[in-house]
Amino acid sequence: APPLKIGIAGLGTVGAGVVRMLARRKDEIALRVGRPVEVVAVSARDRTRNRDCDLSAVRWFEDAVELARDPDIDVFVELIGGHDGIARDAVEAAIASGHEVITANKALLAHHGVSLASGAEANGCNIYFEAAVAGGIPVIKALREALLGNEIARVSGILNGTCNYILTRMHEEGLSFDACLEQAQLLGYAEADPTFDVDGFDTAHKLSLLAALAFGVQPDPEAIHVEGIRSITLADLEAADELGYRIKLLGVAARAGAAVELRVHPTMVPKHWPIAQVSGVTNAVAIDGDAVALTLVGPGAGGDATASAVVGDICDIAAGKSGTPFGWKARDLRPAGKAAIQRH
Ligand code: HSE
Repeated sequence: APPLKIGIAGLGTVGAGVVRMLARRKDEIALRVGRPVEVVAVSARDRTRNRDCDLSAVRWFEDAVELARDPDIDVFVELIGGHDGIARDAVEAAIASGHEVITANKALLAHHGVSLASGAEANGCNIYFEAAVAGGIPVIKALREALLGNEIARVSGILNGTCNYILTRMHEEGLSFDACLEQAQLLGYAEADPTFDVDGFDTAHKLSLLAALAFGVQPDPEAIHVEGIRSITLADLEAADELGYRIKLLGVAARAGAAVELRVHPTMVPKHWPIAQVSGVTNAVAIDGDAVALTLVGPGAGGDATASAVVGDICDIAAGKSGTPFGWKARDLRPAGKAAIQRH
């Protein structure tokens, strides 16, 4: 079979990680998906940076939108970030060209998921985003495929590694909020603008995508009640501990009659629950289905975890899987129902 040709826009930790992983796993992937996978083109701001991966045979583009339109790629991987601007222009261009799209961009899909999904459907391509939610945890695949036999009542979890890192370190080491945030930034976990992490917006973006998959509601950050962790003090964490709880920033999507309740806020979680024991940058997602209730725990951020999710999506495309981004036709996605989000 002919090789699957990949174009990658954005060669930071994740993009370079994808190139390395595809090189390292080349033979086994080809064997298992039935065709070779090749990175044939890339775009990045800085061409000279040492990325510790072999890019000698790939074509370089100055402009991500041009790469997205290139007729000689099959798959466009967007690792630029930001919910408008180049990332959006490039993904739209890739879809207009009928290319399969893989993105780690939760903000982009949370804000424009419905229109991008309609565009993809109209052009006979798909958008894959395993890397956009909870990094290395295959939760998109779980909700889109593996758990389809279940009626889901609730999806909830720790979806932001930076916040979980801050809450854990404050509690375990008595450090200040600011010191912990600075550490998370140094480790490369935080968003370019860490307001998105600590004020809960990043969690809300990811929650909106999980809710679309689980409940068929349109991704819409506006429909979510959002509170972050800025006001949590060491005294709060200690008081919760004495009462038998941990404080976690949770995203919760739950059926509420005909509507879906969507909220993000610091939550007291009983210490013996699996989610309470998740520390550091790790993420966790609890899914309550009528046949299966489970909690998935794993790395939520970082180059390797995110690259692993992107490579998994590449392999799905190479193996010939098809479908719709949210597992529903775009026209069947309905509003979440704001009436239900007031109380928690
Ligand atoms: N800033 C995000 C986090 C990165 O801390 O979880 C992964 O989406």
